[in-house]
Parts: sequence; structure tokens; C-alpha cells
Amino acid sequence: MLTSEDNKRLTQVGPGTPLGNFFRRYWIPAAVLEEIKEPGGAPVRVGLLGEKLVAFRDPDGEPGLMKEHCPHRGASLAYGRNESGGLRCLYHGWKMAHNGSISDMPPEPPESRMKDVLKHTAYPVQEAGGILWTYMGPAENMPPFPRFPWLDLPEGQLLVVKMFQDNNYLQGLEGDLDPAHPNYLHKDFDEEIARQSWSGAGWKSISNLMSDGAPAIHVEETPQLMRVGAVRKTDEPGVAYVRTTEWVAPFYTHIATGPNESQLFKAWLPIDDYSCFTFYIHYDTRKKLDVPAIYSNWGHRTQYPDYRTPHTLENKHLQDRKMMVDGNFSGVSGAAVQDRAVQESMGAIFDRTQEHLGTSDKAVIFYRRLILRKMREMQEGKPLPATTDEANFNLRAASVYMPVDQPWQEAVRWIEAQEAGLKEPASMELKG
Ligand code: FES
Ligand SMILES: [Fe+2]
Repeated sequence: MLTSEDNKRLTQVGPGTPLGNFFRRYWIPAAVLEEIKEPGGAPVRVGLLGEKLVAFRDPDGEPGLMKEHCPHRGASLAYGRNESGGLRCLYHGWKMAHNGSISDMPPEPPESRMKDVLKHTAYPVQEAGGILWTYMGPAENMPPFPRFPWLDLPEGQLLVVKMFQDNNYLQGLEGDLDPAHPNYLHKDFDEEIARQSWSGAGWKSISNLMSDGAPAIHVEETPQLMRVGAVRKTDEPGVAYVRTTEWVAPFYTHIATGPNESQLFKAWLPIDDYSCFTFYIHYDTRKKLDVPAIYSNWGHRTQYPDYRTPHTLENKHLQDRKMMVDGNFSGVSGAAVQDRAVQESMGAIFDRTQEHLGTSDKAVIFYRRLILRKMREMQEGKPLPATTDEANFNLRAASVYMPVDQPWQEAVRWIEAQEAGLKEPASMELKG
């Protein structure tokens, strides 16, 4: 349970809020590049951290991100003319450059100094991994760009799926902090249905996950943010099934997949306090992705321009009661929509003074306390996780069978050994 104050502190992301300030100290995704593919094309509206922005690619190919409403009298620049060097407002022709300077104010007299003193809000951008990234914080605090392991993969080895979600980002993110829920929410009764629906993301590991619905949960802080491990019993004596997640500040996570399976990275992007985008980033560093298999796990596709699916709170996410009897636990099809269904069902911002947390919520509790502490440390001027030159972004998560007496933190070494065809990590001295 949280106090009402802490619930606000952890959910409000607008300019000037403590969490908004914290998130603004990181490079974050603003859009996917397909939204601004065409040079000189229509600017697109972008909601990010409670701000209304427009993203665009000018006729010379230069991307930009700026406040949606014109600094003159507020007309939307989403309607604007996309010109070399910036956007021109339809109403009176003011032109705003990529860096926010106002390069033209045609109705003003030539001697006017107004355009030299006035500045529009614009944010720096970078293109990488199919995403337009931005930094919305103070220039003096800009961290190095986060070099995630999937950013520079060749065509076919990276798939970015963006999905709109109608609730505060924290409700979504807390699902990824919760290793016990798949045993219920994502359970299929029929083995063949399960095999098909999980074929893109670790059928073998998911099926074993289902054998222990009360995993032992472990959490620890890392220089990047935190690491979570869920250790499950198996039928084989001496063998545990371990799943880990690696968290990178402020809202990124590597989700566990099995040996030689494609990997999954997620970002929880607050649009405002009441909605968010999830970026599901599927990648494989060694081979092309099996895209149809990934979408079969997903169950549904989202696409430009709204990145929604037909499932909403109003239609109860198309829940099928018959399917609940003989198909699966939730009656909602597709793992991502199952997650979204329960998270949206909690209301836009859940009142966490009303919750009753149990043992399985250990990582949720840890994350909340950690972020509250990091926000305080930010105010004290301390360095933030994953913002220094030494930050390590080359991380992965693991879903692996390993000896029950080995530390869960070694899961990545065990999965890498198994991928290399070894029985155990080469340099490891087995305990006991
Ligand atoms: S409102 Fe944009 S130029 Fe006047
Ligand atoms: Fe889930």
C-alpha cells in the first residue's frame, strides 16, 4: 500500500513534477520512425510526459520535435507547413526551427526584435533502432546516449511494436515487475493452444513456468537500476527454473526468453498521467526474427497512426466466456492484450492506498521505494542510475534451467553456456 502522496509522486509525469523531472533526465523514445518516414510529410502529434508535441522530418530529411502549439497564438503545428529548416504555422506564417529559434515572423515589421528574443520549446532528437529518441531535460544534465544492444542490428533482426494503453504507465510497468502473474493471467488450459500462442517467445520456458505458481522472488539494486529473479521448482531434483529481468532507469526492461530465442526489451512511455505507450522491442543478435511467430504470441497487430487494437475497457477487451471454460484462464486473446486488459481495468490511475500487497509483490515494492529514493537523490544533486559514462547497457535477461544451489544472479551465465553448447559456464566452480 502507498500513501496518497507517494502514489501521486510515482504517477504524475507532467513538467515540474518530481517524477516528470526524473524522467526528463533520460533519453526516451518519442515516436517510431515510420511515423515520420517521409521527408516534408505531415507532422505527427506526440504526447509525451504530459506535453503536447509534434514530430516531423523536414524536406531535407532532418527530424525534429517541438511543442505542438505555436508560440504566437497557439495554432497547432500539426497542421503546419513542413519546410526546409522547420515548421511554419498556418495562421500567420511564423516559422519555428528545429532548435526552437523563430526564423521568420512575416507579419512583424523588419525592425522588430521579437524573433530574436522569443524561443519556441523544441527538444534534441536522435534516430536509432527504428525509434526517434529525445531528451527533454536541462541541457547541463544530458546523459550519454544509451547504447542498448539492439540499436544497430541489421534489417530483419529487430521488430519494434508500439501499443497504446489507456492507463498510467506505472500500472503497466508493475506488470513486468510481477513474476507470478503469468501463471494465472497468461495460462492456457490446452497444451496445443499454449504451444501456438507462445511459439514466438519461449514456449518451453513458459510451459515450465506454469508448473510453479508461487515462485521465490529475489530483487537487488544495480548500477542501471535493478534486477529481479523468479526461482521456480521443477520436477527434476536439484534443478530450478530461473527467470530474470534487468531494469534500466527510468522505465526500460529486458524480459526473459529462453536459450537461442529472440529477446524482448520493453519501454513504458507515459503519454500523460492517464495513458502510455508500450514499446515491445523484439530482437535477435544472431539471426533473423520469426516475425509471424512473434505476432502469434501477440495475437493482434497495432499500427500507425493510433497503435491501438479493438480491445477496450468498454468492450471488456472482447473477453470470451466460452474460451474461459475450455480455452484459457482469461478469455482474452494474446498475452499483450491480456496484460493491458487487467491493467486498464484498474482505472486510469489506481488508488494504491486501497491495495493489499503480498509476498509476490516484492519487486513492485522494491521498485517504488527505489524510484522514490532516486527522486530524492536527484534533488540532492547525486548522479542518477544509467546516466554516467560507465553505464552498462549491454544487458540481457534469462529464462533457464540451472542447479538449484547456484545463485539466481548467474542465470545469464548459465543461459550463455547452454547457448554455446556447454553443460555449465566455463569458468564456474560449482558450489558444493
Ligand atoms: S498562431 Fe501561429 S503564427 Fe499566429
Ligand atoms: Fe504479463
